Formats: sequence, structure tokens, C-alpha cells
Amino acid sequence: MSASKESCVTAVVGAQWGDEGKGKLVHLLSRNFDLVVRYQGGENAGHTVETDGQTYRFRLLPSGILYSHVTAVLGRGMVVNPISLAAEIDELSTQGAFRGKLIVDRGIQLVLRAHQLQDQYSEEAKDIGGLAVGTTRRGIGPAYADKHFRVGIKAGDLLRPRAELRQMFCSDITRKNALFAGYYGQPQGDAGELWAEFEPAIEKIAPYIADAVSLVMVAKEKCRPILCEGAQGVLLDLDYGTYPYVTSSHPGIAGALSGTGINWTDIGEVIGVTKAYTTRVGNGPFPTEELGPLGELMRERGAEYGTVTKRPRRCGWLDLVLLKYAREVVGITKWAVTKVDVLDELSEILSCNFYVQSDHMAGPTLNPEMDRLGDYLPRYSRLSGWNCDTTQCRRYADLPSALINYLKHIEVATKTPVAFVSVGPATDAVVWIGAEQVAMAEA
Ligand code: GDP
Ligand code: IMO
Ligand code: MG
Repeated sequence: MSASKESCVTAVVGAQWGDEGKGKLVHLLSRNFDLVVRYQGGENAGHTVETDGQTYRFRLLPSGILYSHVTAVLGRGMVVNPISLAAEIDELSTQGAFRGKLIVDRGIQLVLRAHQLQDQYSEEAKDIGGLAVGTTRRGIGPAYADKHFRVGIKAGDLLRPRAELRQMFCSDITRKNALFAGYYGQPQGDAGELWAEFEPAIEKIAPYIADAVSLVMVAKEKCRPILCEGAQGVLLDLDYGTYPYVTSSHPGIAGALSGTGINWTDIGEVIGVTKAYTTRVGNGPFPTEELGPLGELMRERGAEYGTVTKRPRRCGWLDLVLLKYAREVVGITKWAVTKVDVLDELSEILSCNFYVQSDHMAGPTLNPEMDRLGDYLPRYSRLSGWNCDTTQCRRYADLPSALINYLKHIEVATKTPVAFVSVGPATDAVVWIGAEQVAMAEA
């Protein structure tokens, strides 16, 4: 896939609860793009790319950074912990893989240690009432809260004279300490110690700080192809997801528009990434969750353990009701279906077509109300499994007919074509369908 002249932007968006395999797809597509932009979220993301016998784990950096021709942009909608970013740059440099050019938008809200503590204290307090979200405890919610409250430190502030920045930093700690002591009844942070931990990251990040919005605008004027790398997934969206069991940002297209310099007329394709089944980390409703041996099989075959927190991911069948919902709220134009190989051993595959209410008081539900997701019971179509090894498939013709039926079932139910099928973690374990296949072959 390459961008057209009229709409130079392609976006890759998670269509479920995250971890759909966005990192792999973005890496593959990055070959054809000049700018790869992460637009929201922070180090709650964990994007794994397995290529050339190496495994790379990205938390903040766009996976396009692996290519020397790519300008990798951390967009304004992100929240970034400079200590973690510095560590990720170091780690990738050690692997000899920090190849592209990096730009960190100066309007990015910084995540500080105090935000992580606040995340932890808040989760512990909510857990007493059984209401913990199950966050990654990376300080994401508190950092976005400060941004909306219009307090805190921006990436651009790292370029201020050191004494001025230190003062900002310390007054931020004072504010947080009052909250920790008064509201949470928890230990306070020592400003001196926290500054000593923070300061070395400044020099590391400063050279990359710039106005990424104007950079993106210039790139658009020159019709340079731009790829937006989604993090998290639509069902974790603050407004469209399963609130309150969501993240604090907008993983869909709205997030890409609000802080990157991209507007809606620039957007060409929006590729929704979905697993061939469903997973979720953290708490919240999950209608098609399989708590028995089938869920266990998906977890073990799919190595479904979180990249960031190592927590076991909850697993279940594909939910077409939610995929249709994701397509609608995001405007997904094509699917990438990943991890089909995880289902290789199954003789029967289920997919949820509609819900019924748990009290059986109403008819079938095709359009879910997200705040009532926990009240729905899934109703399934039963399809034949392919029951064979798909990991060596590289062309459409290699795919077993039962898998083609499954893909068609997804296409018909969602009225959206499947353009990409992933059959293993490595970047070559992929089948491109239609025009994409031609474009990739030409690349
Ligand atoms: P992301 O957050 O959407 O980028 O996804 P993650 O990287 O968190 O999780 C996807 C995991 O599945 C990673 O470990 C990938 O290496 C792996 N993966 C990606 N595609 C496939 C696939 O088609 N089959 C299998 N078995 N693993 C895959
Ligand atoms: P990628 O980009 C899966 C989940 C957390 C928790 C909720 C809120 O790898 O797909 P937060 O720390 O954001 O306040 O946690 O959101 N979550 C993710 N789950 N993949 C992710 O990112 C996630 N980012 C956040 O588990 O349930
Ligand atoms: Mg992930």
C-alpha cells in the first residue's frame, strides 16, 4: 500500500482492545512511507516487531524508526516519559536499530514519576471497591488529566534554561505531594531525588524536540506519504470504549487528527487491525471471553502475555458486533487480520454475530451500547476450522478454503475487505490480498 497524491495519509488503527499486531503491520508498511507518526498514548503501548531474526519491542518510538529513510514522529497527542524514551533510544541504539530520524513534538505532555505514583495510588484506592481499571500503571491517566487541567510540563519545556525547568519540576512535585498526602494518604516524592533521576534524560531528548505539527504540514504540502501508527484499540477509547475500563486518550482517527497536523481530508486508507479472535488485558466487559480450555489454548498458542506488564491476556472468540462498531466509529476502510495461525488446530471456529440481553427482555442486539456491554450474551456462528498449518502461507492461493470462508464471513458481516492476513509473528509471515500485494511486490 502506498499513499495517493490527494490523500497522503494512511492510518493503522487497533480495532479491538489493543495488541492486535499493529507494530508488525506498521513496520511492513513503513517501507513505503516517509513519515511514521505515533499520535496518542504513551508507554502503555507495547508493539513487537520480529524481523531478520531480531525481536524489537517499542513502547514509545514508532516502529518505522527501524528504516533509515523514515522520519519517526512522536506526535502532540502523546504523553511521554522522557526517562523511558531515553532508555528506549539507548536500547534500540545498542541493537543497532535506531536508524531513522526522530522528531519529538514540543507540545507533548510529559509523564513524570509522580504520575506513575498517582496511577498506582489511584488503582490501589479503587481496588478496595473492586473498581480498579487494571491500568499499566505507567502514569498515562494522570498525565492526560494534567494536560486537560492545563498544568504540568511539555517536551518543549526541556529546552528552557535548566534553573527555570528545575523550578517548574519542583513546583509540580509540590502540587502532587499535596495530593498524595491529603487525598491518597500516601508517601510523598522527594523533589531532589526525583530531579536527579529526571535530569540525565533532558540532554538525551533535547536534540529531537521540534514543532512536529509544522513538519507534518510541510510534508503534506510536498505530498510525502505519511503513516499514522495507532496504539491501543478503539474499544479502549475514552469516549467510544468500555468506559471506565478504557485508556485516557483516543486511539481511533480522532486521536490522529487532534494533534498531528493531519486533517480529515488528508486521510486515505484506514486499516483496522484485528486478531482472528479477541484478547483484552485489564478489567472490563468482554462478551466473547472464553474462560475454559479454549481461552487457554488461544493464550498459549498466541503467547498472549502483555508486552508492557507481562499480565496474561484474556482470550475469546472474534466479536463481529464490536468489529462493526469499530469500523463505524473510526471509518475503517480495510482489515488486517492477524494471528490466524493461533487457530490452526481447531476443527470449529466461532464468531459472534449478535448479542441477546442477559435478562432476555429484548430481541437481538446488533448495535451495542458500550456502557451495557457486560449485560449482553453473545450468539455465535459456527464455522469449520481449517485444521492445518497456515504459517507457511504467503499467497492467497496458499490459504486453506475454510480460512478463506472465515475471512469472507468477516468481510460480509462488516462490509469491509480484508487486505492483509498475518500467519506468524515474523514480518515475512504474511499474505497480502489484492492491490496491496502488487504494491508491496513493487516496493
Ligand atoms: P500491537 O500492540 O498491536 O503492536 O501488538 P503486540 O505486539 O502487543 O502483540 C502482538 C503479538 O503477536 C506480538 O508478540 C507479535 O510478535 C505477535 N504476532 C503478530 N502477528 C502475529 C501472527 O500473525 N501470528 C502469531 N502467532 N503472532 C503474531
Ligand atoms: P497497544 O498499543 C492492550 C489497557 C490497560 C488497561 C487500560 C487502561 O500495545 O495495543 P492505561 O495504562 O492506558 O491507563 O490502562 O488500557 N491498555 C492496553 N491494552 N494494549 C495496549 O496498547 C494498551 N494500552 C493500554 O491494560 O486495561
Ligand atoms: Mg501491544
